[in-house]
Amino acid sequence: MSLKSGAEQVVAVEASAAHTAAARRRLERLFGDTTGRRVQVLPGRSTDMEETALMPFGTKPDLLVAELLGYTASEEGAPAVFADLQRRLGPLPAVPSAAQSLAVPVAPLVLSRTDVWRNWWVHGGWLSRGQFPPGPALYDCRNFPRELELAEPQVWEEFNFSNLDQLEAQLQQDRELVFNLPAGTEVGGLLLWMRAELADGIYIDTRKECTSWNQYYLHLGPQVIGPDGRLGVSAKVDARTEDVSYEFQVGQKSYRSHP
Ligand SMILES: C[S@@+](CC[C@H](N)C(=O)[O-])C[C@H]1O[C@@H](n2cnc3c(N)ncnc32)[C@H](O)[C@@H]1O
Repeated sequence: MSLKSGAEQVVAVEASAAHTAAARRRLERLFGDTTGRRVQVLPGRSTDMEETALMPFGTKPDLLVAELLGYTASEEGAPAVFADLQRRLGPLPAVPSAAQSLAVPVAPLVLSRTDVWRNWWVHGGWLSRGQFPPGPALYDCRNFPRELELAEPQVWEEFNFSNLDQLEAQLQQDRELVFNLPAGTEVGGLLLWMRAELADGIYIDTRKECTSWNQYYLHLGPQVIGPDGRLGVSAKVDARTEDVSYEFQVGQKSYRSHP
C-alpha cells in the first residue's frame, strides 16, 4: 500500500514468521529483482530491534504506518509500539494519526432462539442470556442491537500516535464518565468499540461502518439505575507495554482484563 501510494522505500517489520514469509513472497511476485532496493521486510518485533536494524536503507523514515488497532484502540499494543518508534526515530507523522475507544451502556441482551443457534453455528457456543455467567465477561460481537443502547457514547481512552508528548501522557489513562439514565433503567453491560483517525478528517468508526473489526460486549449482569439517574463508569488503561490492561468499574460491577 505504501509503495502504491508513492513511497520510494519501505521498511516493513513483522513479528510473525508466517506473515513475514507471505509478505516477502508477495513483494517478490510484484517487484522481482528490484524488491530489495525498494522494500525490506524485517522479521521480529520493532520494540526488540536496534535503531540501525530498523533503518536498513541508512536513512530515517518520513512516515510511520502500522495497523495495530484491535476492537479497542490499544489492545494490540499500538500506543506502546508507536511511542517506542517515536522516541527512537521521531518525531514523525503516523498513520493512523490517532485512535479512541468508546463505550455506551446497554440494556441486558436477550438472544432469540435463532440468534443462539446462529451464534453457536458460526462461533461455536456463544451463550444465551440465561447461560451468561453471573460475573463480568468480555464477548466479541457485531451487529449488537442499536435499540439496546441507553445513552450517547463516550470516549474512555484516546491516543495521538503522531505526537510523542501527548502519547507519553496517554500511556496510562484513568477516566471517570457519567451517563445520565432514567431512574429504574436496567443496565446489562457496556458496548465497547474503536474509532481511528487515519489522516486529517478521515475516520473509521467500527460501530458505524461495516469493517473487519468487531466490537466488545462487556457483560456485567443486570443492575438498576438509582433515583439519581446516574451511571458512573471508571475506566483505567495501562498501555505502557504491548500487554495492555483494563479495569472498568460500572455502577456496582467491575471488570479487570488481568486478574
Ligand atoms: C492487525 S495485524 C495487521 C496485519 C496486516 N498488516 C494488515 O494490515 O492486514 C497486526 C500485525 O502486526 C504484527 N505486530 C504486532 N506488534 C508488532 C511489533 N511490535 N513489531 C512488529 N510486528 C508487530 C502482528 O504480528 C500482526 O501480524
